[in-house]
Amino acid sequence: MKLTLNGRRIVEDVAPDMTLFDFLRSHGCKSVKCGCETTSCGLCTVWLDERPVLSCAVPMARVEGRAVTTLEGLQAESAGLARCMAEEGAEQCGFCSPGLIMNVLALARAAADDPSLVATREDLS
Ligand code: FES
Repeated sequence: MKLTLNGRRIVEDVAPDMTLFDFLRSHGCKSVKCGCETTSCGLCTVWLDERPVLSCAVPMARVEGRAVTTLEGLQAESAGLARCMAEEGAEQCGFCSPGLIMNVLALARAAADDPSLVATREDLS
């Protein structure tokens, strides 16, 4: 199959029922973690064509010809958020930080296109 991983083109034989999570881990994407394998925790979040997905629930057959992005591919974009989380004591052990950061960055990009997605203080109270 053919896909793009963090901007790098990959052509490789892959079992169609292999999960995207297992594929990514076998390609050195150690930011992608598994906490449940039941689509409950979000630790395995990556982007598929720039939209967040739970990689533990995506069979590789659905990835053909698509672009996959992990935190390894967003180092510059994620640096400020990661630093903020560390400074504010929000990272705790750091195990779940990559999945959280992938979702926050996806929301930030979506909100740049649609400002109505930005929560106000009133929305949060
Ligand atoms: S490992 Fe928990 S949602 Fe994928």
